[in-house]
Amino acid sequence: MAKKLAILTSGGDCAGLNAVLRAAVIHAHHLGWEVIGIRHGTGGLLTTPLDYMVLTPQDVEGPILRQGGTFLGTTNHGNPFAYPMPDGTKIDRTGEIIAAFRSLGVEGLIGVGGDGSHKILHRIATQGGIPYVAIPKTIDNDVGATENAIGFATAVDVATEALDRLQPTAASHDRVMILEVMGRDAGHIALTSGIAGGADIILLPEIPYTLAGVAQKIKDVKKSGRNFSLVVVAEAVKKETGEHASIIDSTTGRERYGGIGHYLAEMITQHTGAETRFMVLGHVQRGGQPGAQDRVLATAFGVHAVDLVVAGVFDRMVVWRNRAVVDVPVLEAIEHYRCVDPSDALVHTARGMGIYLGNV
Ligand code: F6P
Repeated sequence: MAKKLAILTSGGDCAGLNAVLRAAVIHAHHLGWEVIGIRHGTGGLLTTPLDYMVLTPQDVEGPILRQGGTFLGTTNHGNPFAYPMPDGTKIDRTGEIIAAFRSLGVEGLIGVGGDGSHKILHRIATQGGIPYVAIPKTIDNDVGATENAIGFATAVDVATEALDRLQPTAASHDRVMILEVMGRDAGHIALTSGIAGGADIILLPEIPYTLAGVAQKIKDVKKSGRNFSLVVVAEAVKKETGEHASIIDSTTGRERYGGIGHYLAEMITQHTGAETRFMVLGHVQRGGQPGAQDRVLATAFGVHAVDLVVAGVFDRMVVWRNRAVVDVPVLEAIEHYRCVDPSDALVHTARGMGIYLGNV
């Protein structure tokens, strides 16, 4: 009988998840292993009957590599250590997950997730003695151990394309255009797409700014003879008064970032008189086709993760370093949250281009 491994996707979706599932299935089959795909993160281990699919290479042929989302489904709420029940109480359901996992008769579990998911999955794996291998994915690119996580490059491409589309309309109407991008508490998407898309101002959660500084830059651009300005702002940038622009999600009760672009638009008009528009890019950064870079990264991660399971090497995260996939202890990988370092090479690049980044 063939040996089996299980795989699941967890946390917010992003482009490249289907590519990693495809790589794991194809490579495992080449090595004579079977793959079980658990649906909806750990959610598939909390239902009766359990919600999983046996995955064959035929299941991942053709369009799968190119498709956004995850065909297994995912979730970014419902922490099993404090699982929300219909009556409003929260209970620990990790024992059920561990028992369900054992019933699958697999040799190991590959989890594809961001830092939050890996913290939870690593804790469950440690508690239940589950042989676990982690693959990092997140458009936020904030998993410390890897230079790139699956989904980041595509999100940057999408944000850059948005700037390419905003620039001609800004120029046609003599306007300031603001693009609000995701990234949670890290400014990687804003910084990278802002440089790629020719922004005049890039505001990051990691670097303080002033409205006077923003207004001055817009006036300077106008004085130079250019009739439009482009601004990129990361969703977690605070208002000048110090608070986040955010929304309380009525279904989960959680706070979500959103609205800083609208605030800035009003402030810029007040401070400069410029006609200003804003756009919140939102979840299009996560959906859609993965770019070539994410497909390659996902494929390399999927192959390496399967190799680890087959070799019986667990409690490792596969990461991208110096043009190669390597692996590090999961704990080490999730300990370090990576936001933009103000001394980062790309910060230097942006400043070298005269982009206003804040006051530090
Ligand atoms: O972590 C990925 C991410 O897209 C963040 O950039 C964003 O803040 C958050 O998830 C949005 O979450 P949701 O899908 O719950 O709206």
